[in-house]
Amino acid sequence: MSTATDTAETIIFHDGQLDLLDQTKLPTELTRLVCTNIEQAHDAIRRLVVRGAPAIGIAAAYGVLLQGRDADRQAFGEAMDYLATSRPTAVNLFWAMDRMRDVMNSHDDDATLYERLHREAVAIHDEDRQMCRSIGANGAALIQGCRNVLTHCNAGGLATSMWGTALAPIYHLHEQGKAPHVFADETRPLLQGARLTAWELSQAGVAVTVLTDSMSGGLMRSGQVDAVIVGADRIAANGDAANKIGTYPLAVLAKYHKIPFYVAAPTNTFDLKLPAGDQIPIEQRHRDEVARPGGVQFVPDAADVINPAFDVTPAELIDAIVTEKGVIRSPTTETVGQHFAN
Ligand code: MRU
Repeated sequence: MSTATDTAETIIFHDGQLDLLDQTKLPTELTRLVCTNIEQAHDAIRRLVVRGAPAIGIAAAYGVLLQGRDADRQAFGEAMDYLATSRPTAVNLFWAMDRMRDVMNSHDDDATLYERLHREAVAIHDEDRQMCRSIGANGAALIQGCRNVLTHCNAGGLATSMWGTALAPIYHLHEQGKAPHVFADETRPLLQGARLTAWELSQAGVAVTVLTDSMSGGLMRSGQVDAVIVGADRIAANGDAANKIGTYPLAVLAKYHKIPFYVAAPTNTFDLKLPAGDQIPIEQRHRDEVARPGGVQFVPDAADVINPAFDVTPAELIDAIVTEKGVIRSPTTETVGQHFAN
């Protein structure tokens, strides 16, 4: 069910329903999509109604509850398995499902299982808000004094519960009246930068300029970019980071132009089981997103199209990874390991 709305809250769970801001409709329509069963929640994640690594995890955690108060353990377990198939790259989805499963497995009382799972989903949501604030404070120290910061895709409030990850330091500085101007890559093919980052920053009163993805090198060369900050969908144990397609070339450009390149992500975006980024599963999406944007044909039917949703930036191109726990400078297996040991 879709409803027009005046609230821009990314995810709300109320009356046993998952109520999502429909990000496929932004910036022209502020519309919510209400999911009442797990199939609708799965479809909403797959279609990017709700997207961004932390938001996917939160939505899926609430999505489990759509099985209803009277569902048994088997039904909740099936919901966790099913929702985990909605998208493959953002590890936050699997992290959230594991957390819900652990709670279910350690809770003996069937009569209160729904309440216990509900409490866990709310905790995941609340912890994400705290994470945004901490990343904001930790990252602000890195970009303080920058006039212009460039970002890619949307790693803001729409991708989380509140301020986001890459945008959190900008919102933190904005509270002090010191936000830098933001360059937002449009982020082909689904335009999360043009549609979402530009929308949420301008709503908040942060100055933002949209550029096409191919313009960033020229901007860097002319000295207009002081730092690059992006989010991540999965970070391997050595600091290699998967993020929206187009992040890797941005990191190469930043290195060439000696511009600091930062990744901001919560610790639940790390997949320490994977030694390096080449093992991160990369989602391949439908050709129409590239060939027929907005339903208008751009590519002849006879031509093949590739549409990987993410690429991997090697750790050696990343100056620092900002988490809610602090800053990992020059990420390597060793420095990432130390961060988690503290
Ligand atoms: O396909 P999307 O829109 O879900 O991709 C989102 C990104 O790549 C974000 O940069 C990432 O999830 C970090 S969100 C805080």
